[in-house]
Amino acid sequence: MPGSDRGEETALPETDPFALFDAWFAEARQSEPNDPNAMALATATRGGAPSVRMVLLKGHGEDGFVFYTNAHSRKGGEIASNPQAALLFHWKSLRRQVRIEGRLAEVSVAEADAYFHSRAFVSQVGSAASDQSRPLDGRRTYTDRVEALRERYEDAGEVPRPSHWTGFRMTPLAIEFWQDRPNRLHDRRRYTRAGEEEAWTSTLLYP
Ligand SMILES: Cc1cc2nc3c(=O)[nH]c(=O)nc-3n(C[C@H](O)[C@H](O)[C@H](O)COP(=O)(O)O)c2cc1C
Repeated sequence: MPGSDRGEETALPETDPFALFDAWFAEARQSEPNDPNAMALATATRGGAPSVRMVLLKGHGEDGFVFYTNAHSRKGGEIASNPQAALLFHWKSLRRQVRIEGRLAEVSVAEADAYFHSRAFVSQVGSAASDQSRPLDGRRTYTDRVEALRERYEDAGEVPRPSHWTGFRMTPLAIEFWQDRPNRLHDRRRYTRAGEEEAWTSTLLYP
């Protein structure tokens, strides 16, 4: 191996996984060219057939990781029949990956209302007008619905939140950090806990 640093020390000493996520996320906000909060969300049918798509992280802390979506969408249907899911961040500028696994639960009505109405009026209109994941006969049908909602609620300045437009919080039981290291001798540490109230334990993994 070139140089005297043989990389024998891990770049991922054992710590609190939420604190480490915070530190990495703060660095990603500084370095990613766009959407540092974009994450892949993997869900699966009751029978175990997987599907994956990007969503935006809109809140996180010790109680979990929150995103917002349409509960009538494909992902919403899968979450309703199987709450087990996984999240993935890949911060290319930092050469880092974070994998999170656990169960999803819907956020409270108050939380969903507050987030929906924190969004720009046009965003409220766009999401209220969308039958997310359903077939659309032509883009015009969607833009006509957008226009109708815009006219109807323009004076009020906000759109009532459709009850199916909501958020989900993942309570993690596993969080795994991957850090690129020279010569592809990457670092991985996986944290797991048996339940929400249990303590985290962690181990390094071969990359
Ligand atoms: C960077 C990025 C961020 C996205 N964020 C969201 C989001 O926060 N919520 C959402 O419902 N869809 C989001 N989407 C769209 C989803 O990837 C997906 O197309 C949509 O939710 C329908 O997925 P489904 O049919 O599997 O339910 C995002 C797409 C991209 C590329």
